[in-house]
Amino acid sequence: MTSIDTSPATDAVADPGTGRRFGADFVWGSATAAYQVEGAATEGGRGPSIWDTFSHTPGRTLNGDTGDVAIDHYHRVTEDVALMKELGLAAYRFSISWPRVQPGGSGSANPEGLAFYSRLVDELLAAGIKPVVTLYHWDLPAELEEAGGWTNRATAYAFAEYARIVAAELGDRVGLWTTLNEPWCAAFLGYAAGVHAPGRTEPVAALQAAHHLNLAHGLAARAIRDELGEDTPVSITLNLHVTRPVDATSAADADAVRQLDAVGNRIWLDPLFKGTYPADLLADTAHLTDWSFVQPGDGELINVPLDSLGVNYYSTSRARRHAGTGEPERADGHGAGASPWVGADTVEFLEMPGPHTAMGWNIDPDGLVELLLRLHREYPDTPLMITENGAAFADEVGPDGAVHDDDRVAYLHGHIDAVARAIDAGADVRGYFVWSLFDNFEWAFGYERRFGIVRVDYDTQVRTPKDSARWYADLIATGSL
Ligand code: NOJ
Repeated sequence: MTSIDTSPATDAVADPGTGRRFGADFVWGSATAAYQVEGAATEGGRGPSIWDTFSHTPGRTLNGDTGDVAIDHYHRVTEDVALMKELGLAAYRFSISWPRVQPGGSGSANPEGLAFYSRLVDELLAAGIKPVVTLYHWDLPAELEEAGGWTNRATAYAFAEYARIVAAELGDRVGLWTTLNEPWCAAFLGYAAGVHAPGRTEPVAALQAAHHLNLAHGLAARAIRDELGEDTPVSITLNLHVTRPVDATSAADADAVRQLDAVGNRIWLDPLFKGTYPADLLADTAHLTDWSFVQPGDGELINVPLDSLGVNYYSTSRARRHAGTGEPERADGHGAGASPWVGADTVEFLEMPGPHTAMGWNIDPDGLVELLLRLHREYPDTPLMITENGAAFADEVGPDGAVHDDDRVAYLHGHIDAVARAIDAGADVRGYFVWSLFDNFEWAFGYERRFGIVRVDYDTQVRTPKDSARWYADLIATGSL
């Protein structure tokens, strides 16, 4: 069994002489996702996903970029794993492309697809790197979208079947199973804002999708444990929102924040941890739907024990209640279009003060401390993992061929320090994964936003570690900030 060490990482201590130290068992990793790096979109029996359809639709992505080739990771696994080893990564978080495993999203598995991931896992293990698998990072098989996608309850059951197939193939070679990545984005950016695949702008569909994603998580977690044993480590990764009121003394602003917390955070946390949806969420959205798509017993299906909760964190936002009705403003960098904040039509976001990254997102490590402590307070028995944190900046290749990305180093330093501060204050954080290991396809922003600690030259596919990669390797080697 190669499971991630789950003994408490409480040994982060402030050391004024050498900086902050993390315990030897703290898991240092980096992350990618299938559609963002693999390429080989029509190879190995892979079927199309909603991101193939979306990115090939004119006007949907910056410069019309697609994941057809991406960083060609599909053909470069050996080279890429060698680089991970060189950096000293203890774990690598990657996602499995559902349409590579089941081209149409159902039926028998595609052996070539499974073989690809099996080889990746073996190469990681041979390099001493623990595989952390995400089963769904947004690339729904296109055929399932034709049948309604995540608005269709059957998709949740199909997902559980797919999870079972992957679990049976990769078995206990996987250190940690993550069912879903950022279901908020899949549901609200995909079905309400329309800025992510499948590009729909139907508020009720987004709520339905959210529920079916929760259900998919519960069913898949059960399928994995049914296949591999009850003690198999299962997790889910959420992008929880840290939103503050514009006016800290305003009851109206506090209520706007409450509303956003319901539809952004508690819509996942409550069913996952309590098996119910928040009453205020149901009330806030009652003018849109009666939530009859939630069937008796669904809460229990969703509420499975989690070994850890994955936290993706980038920035914060601030909001206030405005008197009018209509489309609320968005100022958090998630793109234009219909608001994903379904049911929060009188909420307005204000631009956050800088500094900002190339995504326009503000840099606010304190928000991470706040979030980790909230999660620790509310769910003290569930260990936390930072499954993504990182930044896009306008990297420049210097005359020496290197990328001196001091801004990214500062961003990572600030946020890893925030993790240590949260641990010192009692939060049970077990690991940290930089987003991203490589520059890659940043969804609707295509290849223009670079998040990697390793630069990828998209013409030659040459990988060059940036200064941030060297800095991160040192941190891993010493456990010291
Ligand atoms: C969250 C997503 O999981 C990942 O795919 C994306 O590239 C990063 N955030 C940066 O936007």
